[in-house]
Amino acid sequence: MCGIVAYIGNKEAYPILIKGLERLEYRGYDSAGVAILESEIKVFKRAGKVQELKDYASGHNTAGNIGIGHTRWATHGEPNERNAHPHSSSDSNIAIIHNGIIENYAPLKEELKKRGHEFLSDTDTEVLVHLIEDVQKNNNVDLFEAVRIALNEVTGAYAIVVLSKDNPNQLIGARKGSPLVVGMGNEEFFIASDATPIIEYTKNVVYLDDEEIALIDRYNGLSIKTIANQIKTPYVHELEMQLEMLEKGGYEHFMLKEIYEQPRSIYDSMRGRIDSKRGDIYMGGMLEYKNVLTNADRIIITACGTSWHAALVAEYLFEDLARVPVEVEYASEFRYRNPIINPGDVVIAISQSGETADTLAAIELAKQKGATVFGVCNVVGASIPRATHAGAYTHAGPEIGVASTKAFTAQVTVLIQMALWLAYNKGAINQAKLARYLVELEAIPAKVEEALKSAEEVEKMAKIIARSENALYLGRGYNFPVALEGALKLKEISYIHAEGYPAAEMKHGPIALIDENMPVVVLATKNSQYDKMVSNIQEVKARKGKVFAIVTKGDVEVKAMADRWIEIPDCPEELSPLVSSIPLQLLSYHVALLRDCNVDQPRNLAKSVTVE
Ligand code: AGP
Repeated sequence: MCGIVAYIGNKEAYPILIKGLERLEYRGYDSAGVAILESEIKVFKRAGKVQELKDYASGHNTAGNIGIGHTRWATHGEPNERNAHPHSSSDSNIAIIHNGIIENYAPLKEELKKRGHEFLSDTDTEVLVHLIEDVQKNNNVDLFEAVRIALNEVTGAYAIVVLSKDNPNQLIGARKGSPLVVGMGNEEFFIASDATPIIEYTKNVVYLDDEEIALIDRYNGLSIKTIANQIKTPYVHELEMQLEMLEKGGYEHFMLKEIYEQPRSIYDSMRGRIDSKRGDIYMGGMLEYKNVLTNADRIIITACGTSWHAALVAEYLFEDLARVPVEVEYASEFRYRNPIINPGDVVIAISQSGETADTLAAIELAKQKGATVFGVCNVVGASIPRATHAGAYTHAGPEIGVASTKAFTAQVTVLIQMALWLAYNKGAINQAKLARYLVELEAIPAKVEEALKSAEEVEKMAKIIARSENALYLGRGYNFPVALEGALKLKEISYIHAEGYPAAEMKHGPIALIDENMPVVVLATKNSQYDKMVSNIQEVKARKGKVFAIVTKGDVEVKAMADRWIEIPDCPEELSPLVSSIPLQLLSYHVALLRDCNVDQPRNLAKSVTVE
């Protein structure tokens, strides 16, 4: 949520900032801006996408070797030019970019107004830059100390970078609750919300921790202090990410590329972890906590959005295979409702980005109450894997499309392995059964490959659904979370109102919506509830609803009832979400295309939700 990039070195800053903003645009795209220091600070900003900023700045002097850039997802103040970052101090000598929310901005603003500060925007961020200016003037301290004192006065979340005319060889970055990473180049430094704008120039990065302030001096390098004034030693990580992973690679959209990457990303999420011949499964993080896990009376799984749908799949898996009770919680509700968590409980937090504010807060709460917390996360080095006791990375590679696709199937792949590991270690399944599941799991990437071949048929379905303003998605058992996920995909990128429902629950309300105009997408694969699903489809047909069915290859009965259908390969129902979710992802993609929607950057959304 909001993208930050900054540069200091020998090169021209502007092209590096713009390229960085383009890579970060998935984090927010309401407005964009840069500030570059030559002899003065030059600020360029525009409402809308980075392209608008580029067009505007092209006629101006953008020269300078130090600068900051921002792409915004609006929280305080409309997404217009006035509220776009960077924001400046009264004397225009300090500029700031910010990701997060300064919660006590209103009283601070009132106080600063009384002291003569005038504000040009409605943002909380502008208050912070004025506060830094005020502290520096009144306390006669250097910029770093002014930032440190100011940050002690604010509450809320922030990742900031500060640029000052009087400190032409320095950048200051700080974080609390929002991510910030420093890239260590050759006589040049970068600061960004994540590694995507940095990878092109250096693989050496330092992740800042909460309440840390980094001083980057072009000639003296990086030094870090906490806001409590403690000196910290920077720890340099080496990035494993490759630049090609951040590019479209010939696809029209990142989302499409990511959908088609799934055979590979699912494989990567099990690579090195399973041995089907021996019937063995290796989960490093779980091994360390084997006793806690095998003795847990219950498991709580918490997440948001698509990751919450993966958590629902996990509920079925853990209960079904490992016979341990599971509760699935929206992180945003869990963190505020005083939940009962006992020492000995196990909490699993799932997140693609590893930065979701509500999920992070839920983790902190669970830790305070004595639970052991596992993370299932895609972004290496993000806040969630660093806040949890142990965990497993999903290895899907960077996911840039705002609509989550390969991250979901990678999460489910890891959760299947966790459930199998636990089931085996608790003695709920024997080695022979484990081996059979692992053989089936190994076969999934090829089945996903086959499911991707349904694209042509999906496009035909999309043409009908694109004309509708509503849609229902129905599934039972393991297909119920898949129905929820299919509906979420459709609404977030095509703006069609879609509801996912357990198929049998339909007759308790949503059935009233069904008429000849209502498309009903049914997940009717061959599984233990197939016959029940057939009855539910008949209920839809009886009300003239249009049935779009996902069926198992060779199906006869559902095909005979459906208006259109898509076949997917057969697989054990515990693993089926990995395959049945594929045509639904493709369907939402094609519907969005037909409705001329921005597939990768749907309105109002941002990839990583770092505010609550
Ligand atoms: C999915 O398509 C969404 N963009 C969104 O629901 C997302 O899954 C949610 O914000 C959680 O994000 P996380 O996995 O990064 O924590």
